[in-house]
Amino acid sequence: MFKRLYLTILVIALFVGLIGFTTGCQPKEQEVNEIKIGGVGPISGDAETFGISTRNGENLAVEEWNAKGGVLGKEIKLIFRDDKGDPAEAVNVWTKLIDQDKVVAIVGTAMSKCSLAAAPICQAKKIPMIAPASTNPMVTDCGDYIFRACFIDPFQGIVGANFAYYDLGVRKAGVIFDIGNDYTKGLSEFFRDQFINLGGEVVGFESHPTGATDFKAQLTNLIKTGVELIYIPDYYSDAALIMKQARELGFKGYFLGGDGWDSPDLVKIGGDAVEGGFFTNHFSKDDPRPEVQDFVNKYKEKYGKDPDGFAALAYDAMNIMITAIKNAGSTDGAKIRDALKNISFKAVTGKITFDENRNPVKSVVIIEIKDGQQVYNTTISP
Ligand code: PHE
Repeated sequence: MFKRLYLTILVIALFVGLIGFTTGCQPKEQEVNEIKIGGVGPISGDAETFGISTRNGENLAVEEWNAKGGVLGKEIKLIFRDDKGDPAEAVNVWTKLIDQDKVVAIVGTAMSKCSLAAAPICQAKKIPMIAPASTNPMVTDCGDYIFRACFIDPFQGIVGANFAYYDLGVRKAGVIFDIGNDYTKGLSEFFRDQFINLGGEVVGFESHPTGATDFKAQLTNLIKTGVELIYIPDYYSDAALIMKQARELGFKGYFLGGDGWDSPDLVKIGGDAVEGGFFTNHFSKDDPRPEVQDFVNKYKEKYGKDPDGFAALAYDAMNIMITAIKNAGSTDGAKIRDALKNISFKAVTGKITFDENRNPVKSVVIIEIKDGQQVYNTTISP
């Protein structure tokens, strides 16, 4: 009696398992008709405006392609995940996108420290990746599947140092940076080396740990050396606090920073202290080029606000990835990678072709904060 019951249960279990197996192997109708691309950015954590802009830019690009029929005759599905600005979380998210969501390519992420942690996964699994905004040079060193849509920090640091030396006439500079962040550490060194090359003096080179909120000890050291400018290659929330505290300590000189300042929250957090500050960036919404103005109008219409550099880079990076899939005529990783290598793309943030290290050669824009607004100052070409 029990034996029969066991047998019946076993037969049913096998049958159910078999159905599950066969349907699992048959791609669902919906899956056949779509191409999945992963998107990643920090939509929570202390740089959330970076991730929100990244997602907006990627979404806009995907919607436009889908409105024109998608790519390779299929609809594009963007699967966007939050890396929280944390390298460990980036590894987690990348693994999920590839193993679970089965994306054919990834456009992400913002922060260099997260892209550095995640890129080896794309390389190992042969999934092409474009980091929209990670400027640390080591990101693309991970291998031939890793590209980026932005300039790199050695160039950004040189432009910053030249601007300080020639345009602002500064001869004595100080630097404060986050020792636990590859982006801010790298950029501080590139700036310092160029400023010294030019004949300037870097009289203070101060670091702080990640997560610090009190920078007064380091700033006091810098200020007492008589610096005319403080270089702050940090993300907007730290940078704004540093500027506030420097002004509170009586510093009257210039502030200069990098692309990490590009957030509407810089002014919200820093208030008057950030007035007159300059930073190097990827994009200015006031650039009169038609590609820029067209993008600014579309973005504003959809999201009700101006795009920042992140939104523009993410839009560009997604358009480049989809164009590469189209040119490859396939979703095969190696074929997309080869198509990316040969691409020439007129993007919002400038014309993009990749050099032998899969980095684009692009201009840097200098922006000044005036009356709480980002004002376009100049464009510097490589
Ligand atoms: N470049 C920064 C990094 O590599 C990220 C960033 C890009 C910040 C663009 C602001 C604007 O970590």
